[in-house]
Amino acid sequence: MATTKITAPIIPPYDRVTELEAFDETKSGVQGLVEAGVQQVPRIFINQPETIPKSSTPFDLPVIDLASTDRASTVDNIRSASENLGFFQIANHGIPVTIMHEMLQGVRRFNEQDVEIKKRFYTRDNSRAFVYNSNFDLYASPAANWRDTFYSFMAPSPPPAEELPEVCRDIQIEFSNYVLKLGGLLFELISEALGLKRNHLGDMECDKALTFVGHYYPACPQPDVTMGATKHTDDGFLTVLLQDEVGGLQILHQNQWIDVPPVPGALVVNIGDLLQMISNDKLKSVEHRVVANEKGPRVSVACFFSSSLVASTKVYGPIKELVSDENPARYRETTVHDYVQYSFSKGLDGVPRLFHLKL
Ligand code: OGA
Ligand code: NI
Repeated sequence: MATTKITAPIIPPYDRVTELEAFDETKSGVQGLVEAGVQQVPRIFINQPETIPKSSTPFDLPVIDLASTDRASTVDNIRSASENLGFFQIANHGIPVTIMHEMLQGVRRFNEQDVEIKKRFYTRDNSRAFVYNSNFDLYASPAANWRDTFYSFMAPSPPPAEELPEVCRDIQIEFSNYVLKLGGLLFELISEALGLKRNHLGDMECDKALTFVGHYYPACPQPDVTMGATKHTDDGFLTVLLQDEVGGLQILHQNQWIDVPPVPGALVVNIGDLLQMISNDKLKSVEHRVVANEKGPRVSVACFFSSSLVASTKVYGPIKELVSDENPARYRETTVHDYVQYSFSKGLDGVPRLFHLKL
C-alpha cells in the first residue's frame, strides 16, 4: 500500500480567529514578523499539503513581441496562448525598463519604510483611496499567505495624489498610465483574436478601469509549509503583471504546475474570469499561485483591468457574436462589482470562482 507523505505539520485545533486578529492588529504584516525575526511560520499561515505535481520538464511560456509589424501573427500568438495557457509574456510593450525598475523599487520602499508610517495606511476599509494590509481575505481563506499587499483604483478616476504614500506615489501614477495605454493595445489584439472588430472590447469598456496592486513577499523561513499566494484565478478581465527577478509564479497547465520565469524587460499577461466569461469560454482564466521562497523579498505589481469593488451598473454577459445555437451562452450576466464582491467574500480558497456564474 502506498504511504502518504506528510509535507505540512498537523495543526491541533486552536482559536484561529483570535490569532488572525492578533496578527492583523500589529498592522505590520508579514514583513513585521520577519523584522521581528520569526524562525517558524505561525500556524495561521500553514497550508494543507498540495497534491498537484510540479512539472519536471521545462516549459517555455511564449514571449510575444508587441513591436512586430506582422499583426496577424501577433494576434495568432495571442489567440493560441489565451486559449491554451491563459498566460503569455510580452516584450517591446512600450513601458521603459527604467519605469519598471522604479515601480518595483517603489513597492519595496513602501514595505521597507519606517513601520510607524506604514501602519497609518493599514486598513480593511476597501473604500479608502490606498489600502495596505496583509491578505485581503485574511478572515475568509483557510490559510493566510506569506505576503503583504497594497492597492488603489487608478482609473477611470485616480485618487488624489496626496492620498498615496509619498515613497511611491509618483511612480504608481506614472506606471498605471503606461499600463492603461498598453491595455488599449492588448484589448484590440484580443478583440481580433476573438474574431471581433478591433474596438469591440474597448467599446465594452473592458480597458477603462484599472486596479493597481503592489505585492511584497518577504523571505520565508519555512517555504514548504506556506504559500506566497494560494492558487486562484484573477477575477477581472485581464491582468498585466510586473515581477522582479526572484521568481515563484506558477500556472496550472495539464494538471501540472509550470514556472513563469522572470524575463528581463518582459511583462506577464493573463486572462481573467470576466474575459473567459464574456468570451463564452473561448479564452481561459487559468489558475496560478506563488510559492513561498527562502530568498526574498520578491516584489510584483499586478494591474487588473477591472473596476473591482467600485459600484457599477454596466452588465456583462457572453458576447452575442460568440454565442450561437450550437454554442449557447454558458454564463449568466453580472456587473463587475457583484462578481468581485462575490470573489472577495470567497477569498483564495482554492476553488475556481467562475462556477458562480455558470448556467
Ligand atoms: C495576483 C497574482 C502573482 C504575482 O495578484 O492575482 O496572481 O506574481 N500575483 O504576484
Ligand atoms: Ni493572480
